[in-house]
Amino acid sequence: MAKDPGRVLIFDTTLRDGEQSPGASLNLEEKLAIAQQLARLGVDIIEAGFPFASQGDFAAVQRIAEQVGGEDGPIICGLSRASESDINACAKALMPAPKKRIHTFIATSDIHLEHKLKKSRSEVLKIVPEMVQYARSLVDDVEFSCEDAARSDYNFLYEVIEAAIAAGASTINIPDTVGYTTPAEFGDLIYKINENVPNIDEAILSVHGHNDLGLAVANFLEAVKNGARQLECTINGIGERAGNAALEELVMSLHVRRSYFNPYFGRVADSPTPLTAIRTEEITKTSRLVSNLTGMVVQPNKAIVGANAFAHESGIHQDGVLKNRLTYEIVDAQTVGLSDNRISLGKLSGRSAVRARLEELGYDLSREDLNDAFARFKDLADRKREITDRDLEAIVSEQVQLPEAFFQLHLVQVSCGTALKPTATVTISDKEGREKTSVSLGTGPVDAVVRALNSLTDERNELVEFSVKSVTEGIDALGEVTIRLRRDGVLFSGHSADTDIVVAAAQAYINALNRLVSSKGRRSIHPQKDTVKSTSRPSL
Ligand code: KIV
Ligand code: ZN
Repeated sequence: MAKDPGRVLIFDTTLRDGEQSPGASLNLEEKLAIAQQLARLGVDIIEAGFPFASQGDFAAVQRIAEQVGGEDGPIICGLSRASESDINACAKALMPAPKKRIHTFIATSDIHLEHKLKKSRSEVLKIVPEMVQYARSLVDDVEFSCEDAARSDYNFLYEVIEAAIAAGASTINIPDTVGYTTPAEFGDLIYKINENVPNIDEAILSVHGHNDLGLAVANFLEAVKNGARQLECTINGIGERAGNAALEELVMSLHVRRSYFNPYFGRVADSPTPLTAIRTEEITKTSRLVSNLTGMVVQPNKAIVGANAFAHESGIHQDGVLKNRLTYEIVDAQTVGLSDNRISLGKLSGRSAVRARLEELGYDLSREDLNDAFARFKDLADRKREITDRDLEAIVSEQVQLPEAFFQLHLVQVSCGTALKPTATVTISDKEGREKTSVSLGTGPVDAVVRALNSLTDERNELVEFSVKSVTEGIDALGEVTIRLRRDGVLFSGHSADTDIVVAAAQAYINALNRLVSSKGRRSIHPQKDTVKSTSRPSL
C-alpha cells in the first residue's frame, strides 16, 4: 500500500488545467484572488500554473508563491514538461514559496509516444529519472505524472513509476488524460500499481482525470478505495474539453458518505474525523468567484454548486423538507456556505460596515480597492434597496478584472421598444484617455450596443456567447452578463453585473475586448500539445 497521509490530499489545478478551458484565461490579479480563496478553502496543494508557458504565467506563479504560500498555507506547485528549461522556469517562479513542488510529466501511452513525442519506450524510460533527479536537485518536493496513464501499457507504467520514485519523486500521479477509463477499471489500475511497483510505499499515489464520459468523479472515488491519496481536481470541474473532476463533488462525496469510505482508510465506519482538510463552508463562495472570473457559467443543475442544487421546486418535496429535511436533502445548504443570502447592507450603510461585511466574506481589500468597492456599493445602493452578500461578491469580483483595462466604458444609452428601432449611443476611452462616441442601430438593444462598441474599437471578433442571469431574486436584482468573443479560434470572456442588463452587457463586452487586446503578441505554450522539441524557450 502506498505511503498514506491518513486522509485525502486535495490538489487544486483550477489555475493550471482549469485555465486551459477555452476562453477561461485569467489575468494576474484574478489568479491571485482565486489562489487566496483556494487557501481559505483549505486545499493542500495549489497548482498555480505552467511557468514556462509565457512571461505572464511565470509572473502569476511567482506572485502566488510570494503571497499565498506560507508556512501554514498550501504547497505551491508549478507544472513542467520533462525538460530542463521547463523545470528551471518552474523552480525560479516557485522560489519565494516556503513550501514548493515541481510537477513534471511525460506521456507513457504508445499512442502519445508514437504520434506526439515520437519517442520509444526506452527513450522515455531514460528521460524520466533524469528529469525527476534534476527537479529534485532544485526542490525537495517533486511530483511525477505519466500522461495518458489510463491508456498506457500497465507493465511499462510500472517500470516508469518505479524509476521516477527511485529518482526522488514523492508523489506519483496517474492521469486519465482523455477521460477514457471507467470506475472499476481505474480502481483496478490503482490496485495493480500498488501491487506491482516494488518501491510504491515511498510515494503518495495521486489521480488526475478528465470528464469526457462524465465519469471523472466516480473514477476518483474508486481510486480512493484502492489507495489513491491525492486527488487532482478543479473548482466547478472546469478544464480541458469536458473539464476535470470537480473538487466540490469529490469533497462532498467524501464528506456525506464518510462512513462508507472510512474503512478504506483503516478507520471505523462512524469515525467523525474528516477525510479531507477542506472547509466546506467556503465551497459556494469559491465556486462563484471562479465562475465570475473565468466567465465559465455553472449549469443550474450542477451537483453541489448549481443554482438548483438546493432548490425544492416540487410541492411534494417542499412538504417533505418542511416536515423533516432528511426526507429529500442529503446535504444541508449551510455546509457548503450557502447562507440565506441574508440582507446585510443598504443605502445608509457606511464604509466601515461595508469593509466589515467584506472581511466576514473573506475579502481583505487594500485601502484603494476598498475605496473603489465602496463607490460601487454606493452607486448600487442608490438603485437597489437591499444589498446582499451576493451583490457584494459581484461588486468585488468585477473589480478584480479591471487592472488590465485598455478600453474604458463611459456612457451607454439605448432607446428601444415596440415602435422604435433599437439605437445605442456609447462613449469609451482608450489607454491614452482619448474619448470616442458612436451611435448604432441593431436588432435589439444589446446588438446595437455591441455594434457601436465594435465601430469604436476596431478589434475584429465574433460574438459567440451572450448570457444573462440574475444575482438574487427580485425585480431590482443585479443582472450578471457573460460574453464570449472569438478571434482566430481563441475565446475571450468578459463578465459584468449591473441592475441594468444593457449596461452590464456593454461592460462585459469591454472586459472581453480588454482580454483580447492584452493577449495580443503574447505567445503561450500549451504544456500538453506543444512538445519540448518544437518550442524554443522564451526569455524569463
Ligand atoms: O490531463 C493530464 O494528463 C494532465 C497532466 C499534465 C497531469 O493535465
Ligand atoms: Zn489534465
